[in-house]
Amino acid sequence: MTRPDDWHLHLRDGAMLNAIAPESARDFGRAIIMPNLLPPIVTSTQALSYKKRIMAALPDGSNFKPLMTLYLNEKTDKNDLSRAHASGLVIAAKLYPAGATTNSDGGVKDFHKLQPILEHMAEIGMPMCVHGEVTDLDVDIFDREAVFIDRILDPMRCRVPDLKVVMEHITTEEGAEYAKSAPGKLAATITTHHLIINRNHILSGGLRPHYYCLPVAKRETHRLALLKAATSGSECYFLGTDSAPHTDALKENACGCAGIFSATNTVSCLAEIFEAAGALDQLENFTSLSGPKFYGLAPNVDKIHLTKGAPITFPEFIKTHLGPVTVFDPGIDLHWQVSN
Ligand code: NCD
Ligand code: ZN
Repeated sequence: MTRPDDWHLHLRDGAMLNAIAPESARDFGRAIIMPNLLPPIVTSTQALSYKKRIMAALPDGSNFKPLMTLYLNEKTDKNDLSRAHASGLVIAAKLYPAGATTNSDGGVKDFHKLQPILEHMAEIGMPMCVHGEVTDLDVDIFDREAVFIDRILDPMRCRVPDLKVVMEHITTEEGAEYAKSAPGKLAATITTHHLIINRNHILSGGLRPHYYCLPVAKRETHRLALLKAATSGSECYFLGTDSAPHTDALKENACGCAGIFSATNTVSCLAEIFEAAGALDQLENFTSLSGPKFYGLAPNVDKIHLTKGAPITFPEFIKTHLGPVTVFDPGIDLHWQVSN
């Protein structure tokens, strides 16, 4: 099938980047690179130098293409944003509500202040990727996505109806429903892990930090709604792995970091669950066709091959100079081998 793209990926920087970039470059053609470094990528100059560091971390001969994003804040420079978009360096801008997730302290507190920037993005056709969770302490963590849609996202989209919006890593039935309400203007990425785990995986039989990510996995009914959406063939849903490496020391911790690292085995995991859902024929739409269509890009021209055989194994962790990073354990046998 057409080589997949990853429409939401964390590559980090420095030693972590160097260790994990090859994991994404193996199966994916392109990826949208999240800007939540410390400090975040807020200007085109920073995006350009980050892109160069990513290119330098790729294996020799790799054709992997990083698609850069800028981290929106209340001071984002409109002209810098448009120039970066026009030049093709930056494909989208990312909206993090302040404090919603890893390295989001510099995110947006007052969404109304973004109005001029969002109007400008709508004019130039630049999509906004949004981490859709409210951060209010009075809202239960399992409800934060649904509340964000009602309180923030829907009113924002009514104020700027032409803005293209990607709801990142949706985790709920409400998210999947809302994402299909404005074809061509609204879409959602879904991660591999949210198609496989529910909240029991995190909490039952012991606390499993390697299944903890944000937005946190919800109950089984929501996982089933996401699976239905991903396997539906509908163009408004596409893959964004949200593969987000943290060292094991930072995950297995009294205050463990949020993030699941799945770059290594994502395509094999997806083939397994799409097959189990009787929807292998929809895998290519989800991983390789619907994403480029939403972003106005052509699909990759090259192909990957998926071959089914005896169960295969992946490394349990990736070695980095900072320490090991555990690879997502789907908890099911994987039979699909990916090759070029
Ligand atoms: C991500 C990270 O570690 O950067 N963590 C996560 O749990 N998904 C940030 C994010 O995308 O929310
Ligand atoms: Zn993410």
